[in-house]
Formats: sequence, C-alpha cells, structure tokens
Amino acid sequence: MQIVNSQISIEKTSHSRIKEQDINNSPFGKVFSDHMLVATYENDSWQEVKIIPYGNIPIRPSLSALHYGQAVFEGLKAYRSPMGRPLLFRPQANYKRINKSAFRLCMPSIPEEIFIDGLKELIKLDADWIPDQSNSVLYIRPIYFATDESVGLKPANSYKFIIISSPVGAYYSEPVKLIVTNKYVRACEGGTGAAKCAGNYAGSLLADKEAKQQGYDNVLWLDGKENKYIEECGTMNVAFVINDVVITPQLTGTILGGITRDSALTLFRDMGVKVEERLISIDEVAQAYEVGNLSEAFGMGTAATIAHISTINYQGKDMILPSIDQRKYASQVLQKLEDIKTGKVIESYGWVCQL
Ligand code: COI
Repeated sequence: MQIVNSQISIEKTSHSRIKEQDINNSPFGKVFSDHMLVATYENDSWQEVKIIPYGNIPIRPSLSALHYGQAVFEGLKAYRSPMGRPLLFRPQANYKRINKSAFRLCMPSIPEEIFIDGLKELIKLDADWIPDQSNSVLYIRPIYFATDESVGLKPANSYKFIIISSPVGAYYSEPVKLIVTNKYVRACEGGTGAAKCAGNYAGSLLADKEAKQQGYDNVLWLDGKENKYIEECGTMNVAFVINDVVITPQLTGTILGGITRDSALTLFRDMGVKVEERLISIDEVAQAYEVGNLSEAFGMGTAATIAHISTINYQGKDMILPSIDQRKYASQVLQKLEDIKTGKVIESYGWVCQL
C-alpha cells in the first residue's frame, strides 16, 4: 500500500488484465481498467479515499440509492498526447458540475482534493489503458450515491464516490436519426433536468425504446410545459445550423449544461461563427427545413462528442438533412475539438490537463 498524499492510498492490482483486452476495439462501456477510486462520506465528513483493484463493492438491499435514486454521475475522457502523455479534458468543469448536481439532490459536496487529485492519481496509474488509436479513448465515469441502510425517505447520511474508467470506441457509428416525442418529457421547470442524476437517464429509457422500435436512434425532447421548444436529443445537447447561424437551446434550468456544448460554442465563436443560445421551437426548425435553410443539426455530449443528425421525424414526416460531406460547421468543430483534446494543437483555454 502506497500513500500518495495525506488522503489517498493506493493498492495496486497483482494481476493487470490489460493484455487480455483489445483496448483499441472495445465496445462502449463494457471493459473496465485495472483500478478504481473509492471515497467514503460518513459521520459528517469525508473519510478514507483509496485506489484499489477494480472489483465488487458490498451493497445491502436497503442501500438508499437503490430505493430513491439519490445518485449523480459524470463523464469525461482521457487521451494520449503525441508524446504519449495522459491528457484529461476539462476535469475542473466535471468537478464543478458534479457538485451542482449533488446540491440539487441534497448531497454533500465532494472536495477538490478527492475529485481532481483522486482522478489524476487513478488515470496516472491506469495510463496504459488509454487507447492509442484514433476513435478510441479512455472514458471516465465518476459516480456518487447514497449508501444509508434505510428505506426512510430523507437525504442520506453516508455516501460513496467512485471513479471507474473504460476504454471505448465511438458511441455512434453512424449519423443519428431522431424522432420528436410529445408523449414523454425529459424535464420540467423546477425539476432535475439540469442535474446529471441517474433518474433523468432512467426516465428517458421508455421514450428511447419506443423511438428505436420506430426505426430511430433517439428522441428529440421538447419542453415539458408547451411541448414546443427543443431541449435535448437522446443524452446530448443539440444545435441546428440555420442560415449559417448555430442555434442551440438556451440553458433554462431544464437542460444539462454540457461541457462539450460549452466547448463547441466557444470554438464556434472564436472561429467567427454566429452563435445563438435561445429558445428554438420545433416549428422553427421544420419551417427552416421546408425552405431549405436548415443545413445541419448535431448533438453534443461527452460520450458522443459531436454527433451529426441525419434525420428528424416530426409529426410523422422525416426531415432528411444534407449529407455529412456538405456539413462544414459541425465537422470543423469536431476536428478542432479532437485536435485540442489529443494535444495535437496547443490551446489557450486552459482545457487540457497533462498528467
Ligand atoms: C456522456 O455523454 O458522457 C453521458 O454521460 C451520457 C451517457 C448515456 C453515456
């Protein structure tokens, strides 16, 4: 056992599994690296923080997160620089967001020394798990959940914060086909839409399943009040290019503040592209399509990065968007983002963290 700072201890695995895996060809989220970070909150304070071999965690059926979903998570990625060094993309943004989500779910905040320092130590230890072929990357999943042994509904007194990581390939292998739903909503004003909490994702599954049954990949979500304004698509933020302007729904409180969204909008603005964050109705998109002014639509998310949207079904009619080779905005920003994340170009935003 090694103590790397006053808080974090490391127990290395005696048997690395990396040689048994093809980390450059792993399906999304099925293979996990050798180690995980586990931190415990009890008696009003953070207790031990340890990095240990990836494995089972003991749970009892009374575990409160299983009953009431007091659980939040994050997603970020580690890349390998041209010199072979591990790079993290915007970990501070994930750190801030997990604590915003935790606040919304009445959970204590996670200290920076645990989230950021623990993350860095873990990824340094499992750096060999970062794929070195383009299109593959090490996806990192911090999770934070209530661990009281109690079925009384109240904010828990005890929690676990865990980080695991997984070498992954592309999240979508093809451009995405969406269907607008007015049968289900993802979030309502005053709800948890802006938090990255487990329940938001569970609540989306039935709509997603029905979309797939109809031949689409995901749902295009509308607002929960008027069923009119576009919010997100599948598990991503969404943007449209209409008359050479990139338009994306403003963060009204029902939409997740995506880190990829923020990065893409920053890059667009710096490229001189006009960006509007505002309410955008599905009818505005449909009208732009009818007159030929809708040139692109794309999703933005950590797992999916920038995902071209090929089709949007609205009121039973497919809007078929221009082919990918005609899309200059999303393709350019995707390339810029990848070049920054992989250290191929030096950035001045302070986004890339070299380990
Ligand atoms: C991400 O994009 O990182 C997410 O958390 C979405 C998840 C469904 C993979």
